[in-house]
Amino acid sequence: MIDLHSHVLPGIDDGPKTIEGSLELARVALASGISTLLATPHASSRYPNDAQGIEQLVEQVRERLREQGIALELRAGAEIAITRIAEIAPAELHALSLGGGPWLLVEPPFTPIATGVDSIVRDLLRRGHRVLLAHPERCPAFHRDPEMLALLVREGVLTSLTAGSLTGQFGSEARRFALGLLESELAHNIASDAHDHLRRPPVMDAALEAAGPPALGEWLTREVPAAILGGEEIPIRPAAVTRPRRVPWRRR
Ligand SMILES: [Fe+2]
Repeated sequence: MIDLHSHVLPGIDDGPKTIEGSLELARVALASGISTLLATPHASSRYPNDAQGIEQLVEQVRERLREQGIALELRAGAEIAITRIAEIAPAELHALSLGGGPWLLVEPPFTPIATGVDSIVRDLLRRGHRVLLAHPERCPAFHRDPEMLALLVREGVLTSLTAGSLTGQFGSEARRFALGLLESELAHNIASDAHDHLRRPPVMDAALEAAGPPALGEWLTREVPAAILGGEEIPIRPAAVTRPRRVPWRRR
């Protein structure tokens, strides 16, 4: 699997404090079937990380992975807070993309009123970026106005659910909303958003089971993320598997 969202880099945000913690997270990721992990530290006002600092840390962690024989491919990205986008210079915004491709991982706010979220996203699209929204199921503004999210998806935005949302780790509302997005074909990816190897680990099995049939899981965690990293066209979602309808028993 390709995991597009993790806080694996040490000492840079609310992920592991040390590089040993990063290696623990990487070991768990590999053991749970993740072969490529995106390091997406927060780029927010609280954690104002820049692309150069992220790339340097990615290189340091890669080196330790090689030393330890942990065959996990690590790639650079960022989780860019929507509230900070206006302050980031155009070239820097490009440099913060997922794996150097055209897609930005954008974090919507956790506040119930999120005026202007849709116009900021539309502005990014106009400027030629592709937008992958991180955990919309945890954003109260989308709970209040799901049509705003549906419209953005129609305009080309993709959404990335957090695995833990599907198993209830973020409450019943996030779970209900995440399942609803999957059902209405408004979800395109599941990522771990891992922060450590224990409490929020890079493990997605239970979430994928809750999400639906294996073919859908493949699409969400392999096919779509590969296309995102490669800047290729997003493959078509596997046809919904519907339960066979019972033939009503008829009286003679
Ligand atoms: Fe995150």
